[in-house]
Amino acid sequence: MRKITVITGASSGLGAEFARQLFELYENTLKPAPREIWLIARSAENLNQTAEKIQSSCKNPPTENSVQIKTFALNLAGTAGAGDFAALLQNEQKNGNFQIECLINNAGFGTYGPFDETPAEKEMLMIDLNCTALTGICGHALKYLTSGSKIINVSSLAAFMPLGNFAVYAATKAYVLSFSVALAAELRPKGIFVSALCPGSVSTNFANVASNGKRKEVLHGKDPVKVVRHCLKKAFKGKKIILTFAKWKFLAFASRFAGKYAIASLTYRFAKRPH
Ligand SMILES: NC(=O)c1ccc[n+]([C@@H]2O[C@H](COP(=O)([O-])OP(=O)(O)OC[C@H]3O[C@@H](n4cnc5c(N)ncnc54)[C@H](OP(=O)(O)O)[C@@H]3O)[C@@H](O)[C@H]2O)c1
Repeated sequence: MRKITVITGASSGLGAEFARQLFELYENTLKPAPREIWLIARSAENLNQTAEKIQSSCKNPPTENSVQIKTFALNLAGTAGAGDFAALLQNEQKNGNFQIECLINNAGFGTYGPFDETPAEKEMLMIDLNCTALTGICGHALKYLTSGSKIINVSSLAAFMPLGNFAVYAATKAYVLSFSVALAAELRPKGIFVSALCPGSVSTNFANVASNGKRKEVLHGKDPVKVVRHCLKKAFKGKKIILTFAKWKFLAFASRFAGKYAIASLTYRFAKRPH
């Protein structure tokens, strides 16, 4: 039986780093099994570059037990995107039965700026990807998950508080966090672990996308290597909510005591974001 790891949004940033670290783990630490890592995002070119980079860094000589990396260029947004993912799963069964040992729902984006200055279509597209697709992908993947399988849903530190100038994004990530914790409870009896990763700022292409190219780098971004390493360690131990650094843990904890409106109002007035 093939063991599959699915990583969405794997063409850059955190997704590409998840792919790199899991490839290394499977190649060097875990016992050989026919393993595949499926990288999914829209850009075929970036996906192939990511795959080539990972494979060329591997020092092990290729064998029949080597981890295979497959790339699938898909737009995952919305019901249609999740449907395409379901079709991919069905189609892959032609190549033999498989189980999903790890599903990483990482594809997502944000929009900077006040709600009344952001196109409604873009905000809705964000919900389509960050919420609808993530939910559909979990649903379609369920029958391929078995005891010991893991789901990692990438939420955000923004999930813990409503944020001015980031309103819809923070709301989508609150959805991901809430859904993931409930799913963790429901799937626990089946031996399936669900974790929500809740990162603060990480150095990826996120700000570039969120600001329409006006901010190239994530401000005070942390190293994705550290975030992913810590996440995998905790997720493999069954941790449900993963916060990497002390500052992120403190902010998530402190958010319990701060007024939601106060935080939204303060961030609206003082945390301006280029858009
Ligand atoms: N960086 C941060 O500070 C930060 C903090 C908290 C949470 N996060 C979350 O971390 C996750 C990863 O983001 P990142 O920071 O690594 O940003 P990134 O470098 O921009 O990566 C986003 C990934 O999502 C893919 N993607 C975007 N739209 C897609 C679509 N419609 N269908 C399929 N794939 C799509 C992108 O590839 P294509 O463009 O090729 O499709 C890319 O691979 C996101 O869920 C984000 O919300 C990031």
